[in-house]
Amino acid sequence: MATIEEKLQTLREETLAKLKTIKYENAKEMQDLRVSVLGKKGVLTEILKGMKDVSAEMRPIIGKHVNEARDVLNQAFEEAAALLEEQKVAAQLEKETVDVTLPGRRIPFGNRHVISQIREEIEDIFIGMGYQVVDGLEVESDYYNFERMNLPKDHPARDMQDTFYISEEILLRTHTSPVQARTMDAHDFSKGPLKMISPGRVFRRDTDDATHSHQFHQIEGLVVGKNISMADLQGTLQLIVQKMFGKDRVIRLRPSYFPFTEPSVEVDVSCFKCGGQGCNVCKQTGWIEIMGAGMVHPQVLEMSGVDSKKYSGFAFGLGQERVAMLRYGINDIRGFYQGDMRFAEQFK
Ligand code: PHE
Repeated sequence: MATIEEKLQTLREETLAKLKTIKYENAKEMQDLRVSVLGKKGVLTEILKGMKDVSAEMRPIIGKHVNEARDVLNQAFEEAAALLEEQKVAAQLEKETVDVTLPGRRIPFGNRHVISQIREEIEDIFIGMGYQVVDGLEVESDYYNFERMNLPKDHPARDMQDTFYISEEILLRTHTSPVQARTMDAHDFSKGPLKMISPGRVFRRDTDDATHSHQFHQIEGLVVGKNISMADLQGTLQLIVQKMFGKDRVIRLRPSYFPFTEPSVEVDVSCFKCGGQGCNVCKQTGWIEIMGAGMVHPQVLEMSGVDSKKYSGFAFGLGQERVAMLRYGINDIRGFYQGDMRFAEQFK
């Protein structure tokens, strides 16, 4: 029968030999081998059981050999593990060569929303004419949204602009017109006329369909100064319409009603598709309605402390969605709000 020392010798030789054959692809084999050699139920433990038959004086010597064998094997396993890891990384690097001639990955670029594009375009036109661009409040008071626009609490015209109430006196504004009153309040007329536009979101209690949305965007316009007349309104709107829809476009003013303007008009533009002959865009009339406008009601001026005998002004309100729909032939307003990339990307 082999002595403990012989057994140790064999174990060392066999284990080291086996270690050499293990490849990095099956590194798990090494783990298994380690357990079978050095584990609690491994070969070395088994050999140690033979110590009970060793004489007392031989024990320290043999014990030393056992420890030595354990150390050598432990170290051999550590080194083998490190080597396998190195081989693995090397192999991976070999595979992952970088092809510097490959084209780069495309980063998808977004684009400005078509409503923002229209708004900026209109802002630019007005800034060019010396207007200031003013911000308003989306959450407004009943007072500014209605009363200051000459719509007292029981005014029947409020029905046209039913909205969302935060409380009895606070609401989501139904139009950008309250900005008229707020800007006039703040303007010092002794320093010159007021010329402003105010783009923004407005809200109405509407049932959404292809042409109605409970929220949409307007651009308010207001000019107040000395000797501002209906002719100024007409000239200004004519210019804007040409810039937005083309040189050949003309406007038509139709009598209308708004509580905050007098006289009030509905502004039509000659159809840019058929030029006025009549087609599906203009519903065979040759004209397309694009905004409401009028001369600022004296009452509205007075409520801002502006002397209506000295000053006069015009105002208009334009729907941004409507401009976009007309220009690009969009037939469903809901497209603006759904965030569908197929819609958005058409306006790059
Ligand atoms: N505020 C009106 C609306 O929302 C539009 C308008 C603005 C009309 C200014 C006249 C003058 O319907």
